[in-house]
Amino acid sequence: MRVVITGHKGQLGRQFLRAFEGHEVRGVDVPEHDITDYRAIVDAVVAFEPQLVVHGAAYTNVDGCARDPDLAFRVNALGTQNLAVACQRLCCPMVYISTNEVFDGAGNRSYLETDRTNPINAYGRSKEAGEASVRALLSRYYIVRIAWLFSPGSSNFPAKMISLAREGRALSVVTDEVSSPTYAPDLAEAVYKLAHSGRYGIYHLVNEGQCSRHEFARTILDGAGLDSVPVAPILLKDYERASTPPPYAPLRNFAAAEALGIRLRPWKDALADYLSREP
Ligand SMILES: NC(=O)c1ccc[n+]([C@@H]2O[C@H](COP(=O)([O-])OP(=O)(O)OC[C@H]3O[C@@H](n4cnc5c(N)ncnc54)[C@H](OP(=O)(O)O)[C@@H]3O)[C@@H](O)[C@H]2O)c1
Repeated sequence: MRVVITGHKGQLGRQFLRAFEGHEVRGVDVPEHDITDYRAIVDAVVAFEPQLVVHGAAYTNVDGCARDPDLAFRVNALGTQNLAVACQRLCCPMVYISTNEVFDGAGNRSYLETDRTNPINAYGRSKEAGEASVRALLSRYYIVRIAWLFSPGSSNFPAKMISLAREGRALSVVTDEVSSPTYAPDLAEAVYKLAHSGRYGIYHLVNEGQCSRHEFARTILDGAGLDSVPVAPILLKDYERASTPPPYAPLRNFAAAEALGIRLRPWKDALADYLSREP
């Protein structure tokens, strides 16, 4: 199968390259390809004639998105629309990677695929606009929402916690932001299966379970042999940052698990795998 993978140099994209090994893959990432350049990107994708586009490229710096919402919209919304136009032209299905930040996090249960979106920050709004253009232009799409991504050899929350702890820095982590850690190698395998199912729709693919950022940090440090390092519990209102995350936004994988039997292992098992692969 000919597959375009956007954002193939990023944390998730590198795992997609592994999952789709053996297929004819074309990577799309900056600086060679900019998804915001309508003509260039449509021409490049159409020329390759993919049978599947896996779209993971995005402006993922959530605080950067809050500081520059126009850039967030250009990359995450218009960039996605450009790729959807290319898919429409080729009648090619798309996997669009979206986020738990399309929800407001004001509820008290995990979000289902059918729940109403209501983003509360620029990143979430730009990703929701990306979802809207995929739904508007294509009939064959998989919108895959994920959260708190981590992967070996990348810059992510577990890597940051371990490096700060080893530097002897004081750690304070919020207790009132709750979501679902998502291990990129598990996710890439699940997306591979989903993309071969032909069951189009909206999916939540995250590792099973949920936790607060604080519990995540504590479990990371304990697993990394840094159990003597304290992690002070703080609240979102005491943590200054440009963006406002949805406070309670774990995702529940209902559709893929129930309909297709696609589920990711519990996040603590995935974390143990991650820690065994990190130096
Ligand atoms: N990370 C998370 O916790 C998380 C949570 C929920 C959802 N997601 C979604 O998951 C997907 C993958 O995230 P990730 O953490 O793997 O992101 P990542 O490591 O930042 O990778 C994204 C890739 O896209 C590239 N890119 C940015 N702007 C581009 C443009 N205009 N044209 C082409 N490529 C461009 C990036 O290049 P540069 O690095 O040079 O910018 C990077 O290589 C994204 O769609 C993200 O919204 C991530």
